[in-house]
Amino acid sequence: MAEIQHATDTRLLERLSAASRGDASDYLASARAVLERLVVRPGLLDDVDLVRKPGTYARNLLFGDDEISVWAMVWMPGARTCIHDHHCSCCFGVLSGQIREVRFRAINERQAVVTGEKLRQPGYIACMLPSGPNIHQMINDTDVEAISLHIYGFDHRQHASSIDHEYQLAAL
Ligand SMILES: [Fe+2]
Repeated sequence: MAEIQHATDTRLLERLSAASRGDASDYLASARAVLERLVVRPGLLDDVDLVRKPGTYARNLLFGDDEISVWAMVWMPGARTCIHDHHCSCCFGVLSGQIREVRFRAINERQAVVTGEKLRQPGYIACMLPSGPNIHQMINDTDVEAISLHIYGFDHRQHASSIDHEYQLAAL
């Protein structure tokens, strides 16, 4: 684990983890508040030796327990996820660079159509439950890296990632 360095941040995330066992909307509000605090912090990841993978994205585990895992994602130019939904809550904020988020609607269990897209800039925060409309794809099609911070409602020792289903783009 790359580990978040500040003891205060660790305590903040431990409290958030405890909150994740309670009411879902209260948890999402708490996760948003944590991200709002962290994404604007200069030097948040200065002491973290971030993994970078040319042409794709790399996940860096900063904090993890039974309830939540917190990751810094480094999106190199050309990086893109598959089209996916999540088996757990998914909250993220952009620290630097720019990520294009494409949103989709499933038309069956394997195919999805585009419903829209937005450029996510530094400071942008999103919090979603798996029960909501949350099929998306994240793309860095700029020529500079982007970094985002993700808080997922899964134990990193139990699940490989937050992805539940993978979809193919449906031809219309
Ligand atoms: Fe996702």
